[in-house]
Amino acid sequence: EPTFLRGEGRSKADLSPVRISKNPEGSMSHAAALQSALVKERHDIRTQEQRGMELMGTRLTAQSVPEWKVTYGKDGTYGQRSRLSIQEQRESLPIFRLKKELINAVHDNQALVVIGETGSGKTTQVTQYLAEAGYTTTGKIVCTQPRRVAAESIAKRVAEEFGCRLGEEVGYSIRFDDRTGPETLIKYMTDGMLLREILMDGDLSSYSVVMLDEAHERTIYTDILFGLLKKLIRQRNDLKLIVTSATLDAEKFSGYFFDCNIFTIPGRTFPVEILHTKQPESDYMDAALITVLQIHLTEPEGDILLFLTGQEEIEHACEKLHERMKAFGGDIPELIICPVFSALPIEVQSKIFEPAPPGKRKVVVATNIAEASITIDGIYYVVDPGFAKLNVYNPKLGLDSLVITPISQASAKQRAGRAGRTGPGKCYRLYTESAYCNEMSPTTTPEIQRANLGWMVLNMKAMGINDLLNFDFMDPPARQALISATEQLYSLGALDGEGLLTRLGRKMAEFPQEPPLSKMLLASVDLGCSDEILTIIAMIQTGNIFHRPREKQAQADGKRSNFFQPEGDHLTLLTVYETWKAKGFSGPWCVENFVQVNSLRRAQDVRKQLLEIMDKYKLDVGSAGNNPVKIGKALAAGFFFHAARKDPNGGYRTLADHQQVYIHPSSALFHQQPQWVIYHEIVMTTKEYMREVTAVDPRWLVELAPRFYRSVDPTKINKRKRQERIEPLYDRYSEPNSWRLSKRRW
Ligand code: CDP
Ligand code: MG
Repeated sequence: EPTFLRGEGRSKADLSPVRISKNPEGSMSHAAALQSALVKERHDIRTQEQRGMELMGTRLTAQSVPEWKVTYGKDGTYGQRSRLSIQEQRESLPIFRLKKELINAVHDNQALVVIGETGSGKTTQVTQYLAEAGYTTTGKIVCTQPRRVAAESIAKRVAEEFGCRLGEEVGYSIRFDDRTGPETLIKYMTDGMLLREILMDGDLSSYSVVMLDEAHERTIYTDILFGLLKKLIRQRNDLKLIVTSATLDAEKFSGYFFDCNIFTIPGRTFPVEILHTKQPESDYMDAALITVLQIHLTEPEGDILLFLTGQEEIEHACEKLHERMKAFGGDIPELIICPVFSALPIEVQSKIFEPAPPGKRKVVVATNIAEASITIDGIYYVVDPGFAKLNVYNPKLGLDSLVITPISQASAKQRAGRAGRTGPGKCYRLYTESAYCNEMSPTTTPEIQRANLGWMVLNMKAMGINDLLNFDFMDPPARQALISATEQLYSLGALDGEGLLTRLGRKMAEFPQEPPLSKMLLASVDLGCSDEILTIIAMIQTGNIFHRPREKQAQADGKRSNFFQPEGDHLTLLTVYETWKAKGFSGPWCVENFVQVNSLRRAQDVRKQLLEIMDKYKLDVGSAGNNPVKIGKALAAGFFFHAARKDPNGGYRTLADHQQVYIHPSSALFHQQPQWVIYHEIVMTTKEYMREVTAVDPRWLVELAPRFYRSVDPTKINKRKRQERIEPLYDRYSEPNSWRLSKRRW
């Protein structure tokens, strides 16, 4: 049971803790706690004793039953929102009083930075105010969002306020999902999608206003849009640019956009009491669940917001909460449990905005999206374990991965602030005050300075921006990162020796996905297996396909292994999809086989969208029939960077830089351990695990990635190498040449 250090009630303006306590001796650092939490949380390595710990949660809650009766009140502000009409809700937003001033400011300034607390109405209102002011007569109003769920849910809300159906005057466009039409005037889209539109129409001639929302999130896309729009507003005097931000970056943004004016919406917030744990929590998931139940049972009314890092965690948490609530029986008030993550269908998502009925409490279990992108009214309690999943480029492994990382102090403050929107709130931080002060960095590094830039470089090249080193970035990426992204694209054949886009590269840029995936798809056209590769790509980008509830793990694993293919996981995913298709895309079939139906539906959708792009460019869709070699070759054509070879000393070594990696226990090849494999990604838990692994023939790598691998003449292997007893790598008895793969130096 986590114990909290009670800070004094502080005003919103000063959320940071005043007292700094010494790091309790013998305690784990935040990073070490993360490590052990991860170990515990991975389904596949959870031990019996660890499972026993979960039971403690049940014991705790049983003890707490009598307490809630005293404190759980009835009415108050709860459920009030539902009694206001949409118009009244709009008029109650802080931005409403400034409507005229805002319209004037946009009229007088070509570029404007707008700041205001989250929930003040920037995202939903500014577009509508400008539409009322006539800006839609000369073009559309576009508002970008860093997250797809946000674009979707906000567009839905604004359509409702506007009084139209989604896709009419108000619509959204996100990757693989376009809900706009000829009448659309206000368009919400992800920043990545606007970037793609600039690729087609450099002047953005169909728009009169561009609003870069949540700019402080600093995604790569937003950062490139900054540079492009800065240039574009000098060319197009009639284009208005609005940059919004919830945090302190306003001055910096204004400075970048020719010292433009800053429009401030005064906030309306309540004090939030911040509580830190006395000891670091080794299992943040368990601590979070216990805290949520404690709040539910002992604190006065008000909804709870719990921040977790991703779909898997959120689903697990919701399952556990359901279970524990059920264990109480009917004696306690209902807890409405609402998960929020990007793969969730929109109907389910909109439930989070519905106020809980009087006397009931809602807990929203969300990813970072609830930090600033979407606002949920009625939150009085925030539970913050202090982690988020960030896209991080790992130079050691030469690839991007989503890594669970401690959040920054700025994020922690923003999270706490979510509790103070409707009334005075409380924020439970599952980390120590000392971890906050000493271990968390003040702000989050912009993505452009930590992620793989392959997609970005490809698209900038496709826009005709060749001189990347001199592009006007707000914060330039590391030179080395740009260079290695360029090298990667060269190896893929997307750039020529001069760094200019090739015809293949131009086609690759048409697809809204990472360059290796596009390369794989285009290679499959030549190999005659694009029908299968389309499905594999769709499945791989869809998140968790297999459902593995804790209490039925063995059963779920058994069902999954029925799909296993000897070639590996890519073909296993293909088999799942094909079987589902053969069953008429049946839902019950999914439940029976522990397959996530939502994920499959999304894959179906992604597949359809990719197919449309292929049709548009007249790319053949052919089937490999019964020839898995074709599929293996196509995989190798895109993912040759991610090749590994069995290490006689255990595990595998990546070919590119000899890192030690292992096949993930959930893989179809976990027991087989073939000599040569390629993998989709590395996940770091207790070890560096390869996920989605397929066995390959090393000759395919040489054949399909001649710019990256070559075979070595065995007579030229030098003495030292021979002494190292490097195995000749391809069946030396039956082949005239033995093969060795080596990475070419540039
Ligand atoms: O952008 P900003 O954070 O300033 O505020 P907003 O997103 O425009 O939200 C204004 C109000 O609209 C909030 O009270 C939200 O709760 C509400 N809203 C909603 O009810 N449903 C949505 N899908 C989005 C916002
Ligand atoms: Mg907003």
